Amino acid sequence: MTKKRVAVLISGRGSNMTALIAAAKAPGYPAAIALVVANVPDAAGLARAQHDGIATAVVDHRNFGADREAFERALDAQLAAHRIDLVCLAGFMRLLTPWFVRRWSGRLINIHPALLPQFKGLHTHRRALEAGVARHGATVHFVVPEMDSGPIILQDSVPVLAGDTEATLAARVLSVEHRIYPQALRLVAEGRATLPAVAARSE
Ligand code: GAR
Repeated sequence: MTKKRVAVLISGRGSNMTALIAAAKAPGYPAAIALVVANVPDAAGLARAQHDGIATAVVDHRNFGADREAFERALDAQLAAHRIDLVCLAGFMRLLTPWFVRRWSGRLINIHPALLPQFKGLHTHRRALEAGVARHGATVHFVVPEMDSGPIILQDSVPVLAGDTEATLAARVLSVEHRIYPQALRLVAEGRATLPAVAARSE
């Protein structure tokens, strides 16, 4: 089996990245984490990836001003240099342009801390509490140009409990994220979830 070479893109602590790295160590897992890229130099996840012997790169978006495509071309160059097959966004807090999304179409996935299509965007746990939903969760989906709108690969939910705060709910959802992201990456790496197939299922 040729393992797919995966890049994980992060902006912060990288706990989902860590879950992917741990899963990829299992014999028979169809993907290898070959690169971790951060768009901020002090992303805590970088040290964690280095500790695991994984190549890291920083492409600091602030060096590119408002030129999003220039930032993405630098990112793309890193991905090419490391012969990356699949890209996992894991707490990567930059919106990607249609140019980048189309270039990686079907090979670019994201985890979002909500049961999409509910609560796209930021502050999902606060908004779930305000909306009074009984269940909340996480979703892994293919990335399409419209934010948080791509075909869903996997999602799972947890109950919202009386007395929950943003922090307690976020922690419960995070444990779902750490479980479903490696499962979803496996499906994509094995070709069992593809963008056209998943899109057809949701029609
Ligand atoms: C995760 O909860 C992830 O779902 C979320 O950021 C957190 C990153 O945590 N992503 C988004 O909100 C994307 N819009 P991590 O760095 O520990 O994986």
